[in-house]
Amino acid sequence: MQSIDKLLSALENKGWFISDDLFPADLIHQLFLEGQQRWEQGQFHDARVGRKQHLAQAAHIRGDSILWLDANDEYPATQEIFKLTGLMQEAFNRYFFLGLKHAELHYARYASGAAYTRHLDQHKNTSARKITLVSYLNPDWKQADGGELVLYDPLNPSQELQRILPLAGRTVIFRSELIEHEVLPCKKPRWSVTGWFRDDEIMFDIAA
Ligand code: OGA
Ligand code: NI
Repeated sequence: MQSIDKLLSALENKGWFISDDLFPADLIHQLFLEGQQRWEQGQFHDARVGRKQHLAQAAHIRGDSILWLDANDEYPATQEIFKLTGLMQEAFNRYFFLGLKHAELHYARYASGAAYTRHLDQHKNTSARKITLVSYLNPDWKQADGGELVLYDPLNPSQELQRILPLAGRTVIFRSELIEHEVLPCKKPRWSVTGWFRDDEIMFDIAA
């Protein structure tokens, strides 16, 4: 993870970071296989917007299906990504004094046609989310498959910062309270592991 220095300075200077080799290609591939296996076993559920009593199943806002990961699950790639996010968390805390306590991670699978409208990851009930991480798992993703992540400029909200194709091995990291973003509709199933570094303790009643 030599890119960690680049990651830290990009987060500090502009609030977001992209890399095509932050995580080993083999890990990304294994995560994809584990995710597909668990999808086929029916372990995913529709993503919801909001938490707890505010839950609303709003497919017009957010059309993906998710599966929360657990560091104790018997899936080797899942265990490995938690190890790596643990190291990243230590680096964030050393560099930014963020007091991060844990990372929450889920698979997200957007069916063909699904999207996620423009939003911030840190809203009312989620101020504990400090840093967002998205790692894409899609082999052979083409421009025509769509599903780009669009990042918007916090200083000039109508300005796009970047359109990012969800290619396998690509990781995007940004400050959750700062960077508005959206997922454009995709034309085939779109896979990622998405997560947040948080400054609160682990909750056992994760609702979303
Ligand atoms: C999210 C999100 C982006 C992506 O889950 O909050 O914005 O590219 N995901 O999947
Ligand atoms: Ni988001």
